[in-house]
Amino acid sequence: MSRSPSMTETLRYLRAVLWSFAGIRQRREAESEQAQFRPVPLILTALAVVVAMVALLLLAARQAGAAPLDVPDTLTQRTLACTGCHGPQGRSTPLGYVPRIAGKPAGYLAAQLRAFRDGQRQHDGMARLLVHLDDDYLSEIAGHFAGLQVAYPAPAPLQGSAQSRAAGERLALQGDRSRRLPACADCHGSRLTGVQPAIPGLLGLPRDYLVAQLGAWRIQVRKARSPDCMAELAGRLAPSDITAVADYLAAQPLPANPDAVPASTRPLPPLPLPCGSVRP
Ligand code: HEC
Ligand code: HEC
Repeated sequence: MSRSPSMTETLRYLRAVLWSFAGIRQRREAESEQAQFRPVPLILTALAVVVAMVALLLLAARQAGAAPLDVPDTLTQRTLACTGCHGPQGRSTPLGYVPRIAGKPAGYLAAQLRAFRDGQRQHDGMARLLVHLDDDYLSEIAGHFAGLQVAYPAPAPLQGSAQSRAAGERLALQGDRSRRLPACADCHGSRLTGVQPAIPGLLGLPRDYLVAQLGAWRIQVRKARSPDCMAELAGRLAPSDITAVADYLAAQPLPANPDAVPASTRPLPPLPLPCGSVRP
C-alpha cells in the first residue's frame, strides 16, 4: 500500500513526538529530524494530537453525563453516617456501647434527636450531624428507624453477680415502696419492651450504656422534657441500684414479640411519676 509523502512525514513526526514524551528519543534521531525540519507536517501532527485528546475528553464527559452515578436518594442512603456508628439499619448489639435505634418508638427517637441537637443530651459527633436539621426532618429520620424491624441478637454474656441481678430484677419488676421507687415495668411495660409512642424498651441495650444513662440523669447531663420523671427516679437510686438494674436488664433475652406495646394496652396516665415526655 502506497502512502502519500506528507502522510509518511506526519507519521514520522507523530512517532518523534511520542518518543520524546516517553523520553526515549535518541539524540542522533533528534538531530537528523531537526536537519530535515519541515514545519507543515509538524504543525499537522501537533494539531492531530490536540484534536484526538479533545475528542477523548469530550467522549469521556459524554459518557459521564449519560450514566450518572446511580445513588438513590432514600433515607437509608442519607442516614449512612448514622448507621456507621449504630450498625447496619441501626441494629447495634449489646456488646458495645452505642445503643440500638431500630424499632424504637418514633416519638421517643424524635425527642432524642432534638435533645442531642439542642444540648439536653451530649454527643459531639451526633450534635454536629444534627445541628442544621429542623424538627420535621428529625421526625422523618426517627420514623425511618422506628419502622425498621430487625431481629435482636442474643443478650451479652451475664455480667455482675447473681445477687446483683436478683436485686435488679426486684427493682425492674416490683420496685421498692419503702424507698418510693416505682418498678421500671410500671412505665416501660410489663415486658420492658417500651410503650408507644414515647417510652423506649429497656432490653437489648449494652449494660454500660444503661449505667451511663441513669448516671447522666442523676447529674443532670441528660435531660428529658419537664417534669423529668427519669431524673426524679435516678435521683432516688443508689449507685448500687443502678449497677444491679443494669446487670439484670442487659442479661435478659428479648421476648418473642420485642415491640413496644401500644399506649392503649396500658392505662396511661396515671404514671407513678409525672413524665413530660409522655403527653396525655
Ligand atoms: C460517631 C458515632 C455516632 C454517629 C455518627 C451517630 N450516633 Fe447516634 N449515638 C451514638 C452514641 C455513642 C450514642 C449514645 C450517647 C449517650 O451516651 O447518650 C448515640 C445515641 C443515639 C440515640 C439515642 C438512643 C436512645 O435509645 O436513647 C439516637 C436516637 C441516635 N443516636 C440516632 C442517631 C442518628 C439518627 C444518627 C445520624 C444522624 C446518629 N445517631 C449518628 C453514636 C453515634
Ligand atoms: C414514671 C415512669 C418511668 C419509670 C417508673 C421508669 N422510667 Fe425509664 N423512662 C421513662 C420515660 C418517659 C423515658 C423517656 C425519657 C426521654 O424522653 O428521654 C424513659 C427512659 C429511660 C431510659 C433511656 C433508654 C435509652 O434508650 O436511652 C432508661 C435507660 C430508663 N428509662 C431506665 C429505667 C429504669 C432502669 C427504670 C426502673 C429502675 C425506669 N426507667 C423506670 C419513664 C419511666
